Amino acid sequence: DMKSLVSASLLGCDLADIRSEIKNIEKAGADWLHCDVMDGCFVNNISFGTPVLKCVRKASDLPMDTHLMINDPIRYIDDYAGLGSDYITFHLEAAPDPQAVIDRIHSHGKFAGISIKPATPVSEVEPYLATADMVLVMTVVPGFGGQKFIPATLEKISEIRYMLDSMGRDKVFIEVDGGINAETVKFCREAGADVMVSGSYLFGAEDKSAAVKSLKV
Ligand code: DX5
Ligand code: ZN
Repeated sequence: DMKSLVSASLLGCDLADIRSEIKNIEKAGADWLHCDVMDGCFVNNISFGTPVLKCVRKASDLPMDTHLMINDPIRYIDDYAGLGSDYITFHLEAAPDPQAVIDRIHSHGKFAGISIKPATPVSEVEPYLATADMVLVMTVVPGFGGQKFIPATLEKISEIRYMLDSMGRDKVFIEVDGGINAETVKFCREAGADVMVSGSYLFGAEDKSAAVKSLKV
């Protein structure tokens, strides 16, 4: 059985020292770099956008896992694909036509992720399981790092994994994001998640290699 992948959320690092933070987390064994784009409309916070992601792309060869927390995301798919994102994840709740967003991401040869907030039922994402490459199940309400994991989301992970298995789509990743640490990661893995996003736990750790390792379950 494959170990889970670890996607380091740069929102949790010292953004004034982003190049060395990236180098350190890369050395510690992180698999992907998770980049949280927030527009202050879809979520109550503004983080960073294309200028920062372009610099991140230059600073590392790790797969770039772009998480768009923005309204009407189709407007920006060309930009985030063009700057070198490998995975582009958008929110189902933010897209009037989610299938069009998936298709646009695929038109650039990139992997498409679709995300749901803790309050969004699994039934709403089901129509897109046939074409998405990843489903991001938010395990906190999106917008801020450092929040507490919401256990009620575990059932949604199992349901999505069950649906994917029934469809024979065993290569689709289920990613979790929010409040992931050495304890909560185990429940997520058991439920069927295989990509673990972490910000505050990873970047706050004294021993980053040990922290990354603790998320590879
Ligand atoms: C929250 C972001 C997360 C955030 C996770 O809206 O999508 O990626 O950085 O941070 P932690 O791991 O601290 O919960
Ligand atoms: Zn995120």
